[in-house]
Amino acid sequence: MTPPPSRSPRRTLTRALTVAAAVTLVSGLGVVAATQASAAAGCRVAYSANTWSTGFTGNVTVTNLGDPITNGWTVAWAFAGNQTVTQGWNATITQSAKNVTAVSPTYANSLATNASATFGFNANYSGTNTNPTAFTLNGVACTGSTGTTPPTSSATPSSPPTSPSTPPTTTPPPAGAKVDNPYAGVQGYKNPEWQAKANAEAGGSRVSNNPTAVWLDRIAAIEGTDGSSSNGSMGVRDHLDAALAQGAGYIQFVIYNLPGRDCAALASNGELGPNDLPRYKSEYIDPIAAIQADPKYAALRIINIVEIDSLPNLVTNTSGNAGGTAACDTMKANGGYVQGVGYALNKLGAIGNVYNYVDAAHHGWIGWDSNFLPTANILLQAAQASGSVNNVTGFIVNTANYSALKEQWFGIGTSVNGTSVRQSTWVDWNQYVDELTFAQSFRNQLVAVGFNSSIGMLIDTSRNGWGGSARPTAASTSTDVNTFVNQSRIDRRIHAGNWCNQSGAGLGERPRANPETGIDAYVWVKPPGESDGSSSLIPNDEGKGFDRMCDPTYTGNARNGNSLSGALPNAPISGAWFSAQFQQLMANAYPAL
Ligand code: GLC
Repeated sequence: MTPPPSRSPRRTLTRALTVAAAVTLVSGLGVVAATQASAAAGCRVAYSANTWSTGFTGNVTVTNLGDPITNGWTVAWAFAGNQTVTQGWNATITQSAKNVTAVSPTYANSLATNASATFGFNANYSGTNTNPTAFTLNGVACTGSTGTTPPTSSATPSSPPTSPSTPPTTTPPPAGAKVDNPYAGVQGYKNPEWQAKANAEAGGSRVSNNPTAVWLDRIAAIEGTDGSSSNGSMGVRDHLDAALAQGAGYIQFVIYNLPGRDCAALASNGELGPNDLPRYKSEYIDPIAAIQADPKYAALRIINIVEIDSLPNLVTNTSGNAGGTAACDTMKANGGYVQGVGYALNKLGAIGNVYNYVDAAHHGWIGWDSNFLPTANILLQAAQASGSVNNVTGFIVNTANYSALKEQWFGIGTSVNGTSVRQSTWVDWNQYVDELTFAQSFRNQLVAVGFNSSIGMLIDTSRNGWGGSARPTAASTSTDVNTFVNQSRIDRRIHAGNWCNQSGAGLGERPRANPETGIDAYVWVKPPGESDGSSSLIPNDEGKGFDRMCDPTYTGNARNGNSLSGALPNAPISGAWFSAQFQQLMANAYPAL
């Protein structure tokens, strides 16, 4: 889990103008999203190609026959052959295998009813350059004439004209083919490798029967033959077979291997370099998708938690932000995160029994005005890069983090002696004080920017329990806002930006479906007992670095208000078993064990 940026009041004020403008925009988008959902399918695409022996220039004109679009358009199609786009104009054009998406430029996001937009590209090919005939506009099949194959006049038509409603071959999975909440009404898969580690601990059998996610944190984790993995040696098929044997209804995987992974921190850097997007696609996502698509597993609801921390890092941890890094600048500039997540969502979302939940950080990261809408927008960008928002079932917050689920003794509206808790050092002008209120509100924001209104949120409650003797049992009676918040808060961290092996944390709510409005489930994605990072440098062959936020003697940086890290001592590298942490989590569980 990556540290959030620090947010001083001054910084919040300097952003006020941008935020006001953005809010106006959002209310407009909300209306559009609603009308789009009810609009009759309506678009027409004219496609032409000027072809030579090894290449061609394509021209595409899309006409919107439905309701006005004001928040951006995406035209998608699939090539029949090996056509490869090399350059585009008047749209951002990306390609995954045969699938191409063209996204409107930010300066031309609108398309009124009956208005057209034209864009073009150059491409290479060999063999035959067959024109595509099936297109979608914002995920809706264009059933108007495509203009690519004008009917040749024939004296005696031998067959009736093709119905304009013939489904195109690139249609995304039909809405409704998947259940709304894959967690509802079924048992979760219990990872036997985590269970064994938990059971080996004194008292561990009290918790080992909970479902936890399987982290696919390297290419070798797919086959699972790599005995050196700190996460175990079962591969994706082994886990799916075990899930069938358990009679589980759902199984959770974490898709976590982006190029240039963990750009704002060091503890979970991965094996792929910043420019390894092609390897991510072909050596990581494609093989996972192939296994998950095996009809043998069709009865399982396969849930993918997609790429922790990545897209939020592009919003808050690029240069220009306090503590921004060059690595995040690189991943923003080269498109590796957006395209990688888009590719994963496309490939995995196409499978009828597979559900994608994209990581959306946590309230202590995204809960400031300056970060909230921009994060929703970049999540939308990645979904659009996948071809359709239908590839997204929902979002997860608090993954591998420690933010309290509910602050019991105060809310964002609480004032102390006339001073809002937002002005306390702990809250620091955030708009949220806990994960539940943040998750519910961010869900609304995501729907407003264009995600389906059926999306649901997950909250990782594996380590945000904060029970034990340090848990406040009443609101503070102090009239000083800082004293009041510090004595009342459930979250006992030194600073809400601390994220590594937190001292004092406990297991949180046990996994369960439909716990609150808008929340599909409480889940244990970070397996309790697995380290967040080593307390000192430990050489390893997994690409893991040493992040000083995991060193208990570290006095912090701009992203945690220059506070102590609050990390437990003697921790092994991220993902490795950390017995002392597991014991602390059980001791401080809330609800208690
Ligand atoms: C961290 C590690 C990763 C591990 C995961 C779950 O993100 O980097 O290797 O799989 O935690 O413990």
